[in-house]
Amino acid sequence: MSATGTVRIYVPKDACAIACGADEVAEAIAAAALTRKQPIEIVRNGSRGMLWLEPMIEVVTDEGRIAYGPVEAGDVDGLFAAGFLTGGAHALRIGKPEEHPFLAKQTRLTFARCGIIDPASYADYRAHGGYKGLERALQLGPAEIIEEVKKSGLRGRGGAGFPTAIKWKTVADAKADRKYIVCNADEGDSGTFADRMIMEGDPFELIEGMTIAGIAVGATKGYVYTRSEYPHAIWAMEKAIEVARAHGMLGVNIAGSAYSFDMEVRMGAGAYVCGEETALLDSLEGKRGTVRAKPPLPAHKGLFQKPTVINNVLSLTAVPHILADGGEFYANFGMGRSRGTMPIQIAGNVKFGGLFETAFGITLGELINDIGGGTATGKPVKAAQVGGPLGAYVPTWQFDLPFDYEAFAAKDALIGHGGIVVFDESADLAKMARFAMEFCSVESCGKCTPCRIGSTRGVELMDKIIAGERVEANLATLTDLCQTMKLGSLCALGGFTPYPVLSALNHFPEEFGAPPRRLEAAE
Ligand SMILES: Cc1cc2nc3c(=O)[nH]c(=O)nc-3n(C[C@H](O)[C@H](O)[C@H](O)COP(=O)(O)O)c2cc1C
Ligand code: SF4
Repeated sequence: MSATGTVRIYVPKDACAIACGADEVAEAIAAAALTRKQPIEIVRNGSRGMLWLEPMIEVVTDEGRIAYGPVEAGDVDGLFAAGFLTGGAHALRIGKPEEHPFLAKQTRLTFARCGIIDPASYADYRAHGGYKGLERALQLGPAEIIEEVKKSGLRGRGGAGFPTAIKWKTVADAKADRKYIVCNADEGDSGTFADRMIMEGDPFELIEGMTIAGIAVGATKGYVYTRSEYPHAIWAMEKAIEVARAHGMLGVNIAGSAYSFDMEVRMGAGAYVCGEETALLDSLEGKRGTVRAKPPLPAHKGLFQKPTVINNVLSLTAVPHILADGGEFYANFGMGRSRGTMPIQIAGNVKFGGLFETAFGITLGELINDIGGGTATGKPVKAAQVGGPLGAYVPTWQFDLPFDYEAFAAKDALIGHGGIVVFDESADLAKMARFAMEFCSVESCGKCTPCRIGSTRGVELMDKIIAGERVEANLATLTDLCQTMKLGSLCALGGFTPYPVLSALNHFPEEFGAPPRRLEAAE
């Protein structure tokens, strides 16, 4: 409570919280406070990431912030009656959010401020360590910024895990009159929502990350490419860009330095393939999103044929921390060549779904069973698809797999953008494998034959196998087809579709009417 007796209440403006009724809860709180002549200030924050508790509201009390959730508009009168403004007891009382085990077990670097600050407030961002990374970047200059990112071991969080420093160095070394920073915020993978959450909950962090990238490579213009299904993220980003500009942190001579950088948000029309970096660039140029052949790499000829850094939201939002705390600090977290933290998204049929940021190395079993609490249905877990629609189905007997790019690759699986979709024992893996092929046929950009034709033939083959028609012969043809798609596709949409298909077949052959065996697309 402030000196004036005004109580501050945080009600998330996160899309998930809004979908669960956060706007109605905010209105009900405002109305109830007015009736009681109780001065309050409602701050619309981002989500803390405990999505099963949304809308989770927080009241600032003498003890600190006390959370209640999941709150419905109809609970508000009861909360006032229970004295929630001073942290009173109530069935929905969670206590201090940071002491909740789901949050207490995390290592939050990228998401450190998400759910805590007012996303639209520059002062709040600054008060919580914002722009420290940029300040240091301005002292260091381009070459040393890239050196710091190199030391951190940061790898692209969009899926491929490519070292960020190498990409930046290539663009920095390219000679051109204009260069661009493009943020890939298309977030098309199933079970992923981290990009959206950070854009809604801490948009200045992305602005800071992109600005540092601009200084490092000599780019003066940035674009955030995101999807039309993310109106709240677009609103939050545009608002923050406006505020950053007003504070001299975007535009000409940022923070009074010799560097200039500005940015804007662009909205795609919702094709999965437009998340692929070159299709995204075509879409950004106003064309139909079609995959470009490489070379040339976007780092040499990207947006409007100019050298372009294209990075995922999570790669760019890791950068302010790397600059503020040093690359070595960041590299201290993780295992093997997977350094730092990963914001993991736990979704699907799971009890405690949400955003869990932790160092690489945690096992899949810990994430799904210990942190996620097993399935929401209470039935045994059967498998999890990790890494979006192109990721493998990982069976429970592989749940000791550590979250690490190389460990997953060794099992023909991938981490991708860190999305985990959990399935219980009732899931029909043959249907899921068929869906993977169908998804590829629907979303294919049509540029190359293995993907365009192969995925359609793949669906037909799957239908025959599921119907019990010449199972052995059709499985052999499917294996051959998967090999062709893996080796002959121009991009990972066609090239990785075999992973969910073959993982389902390998781990659950009986669901396809096949004897237990290991099917592998020959390398
Ligand atoms: C079909 C397809 C869809 C993709 N979708 C996304 C996406 O939604 N977001 C993303 O960051 N990367 C996506 N990627 C990966 C990008 O092509 C690219 O690797 C990434 O933007 C590079 O950024 P990073 O190095 O920071 O990961 C996709 C790739 C493919 C083949
Ligand atoms: S693999 Fe599919 S999506 Fe990728 S270029 Fe070929 S046709 Fe297009």
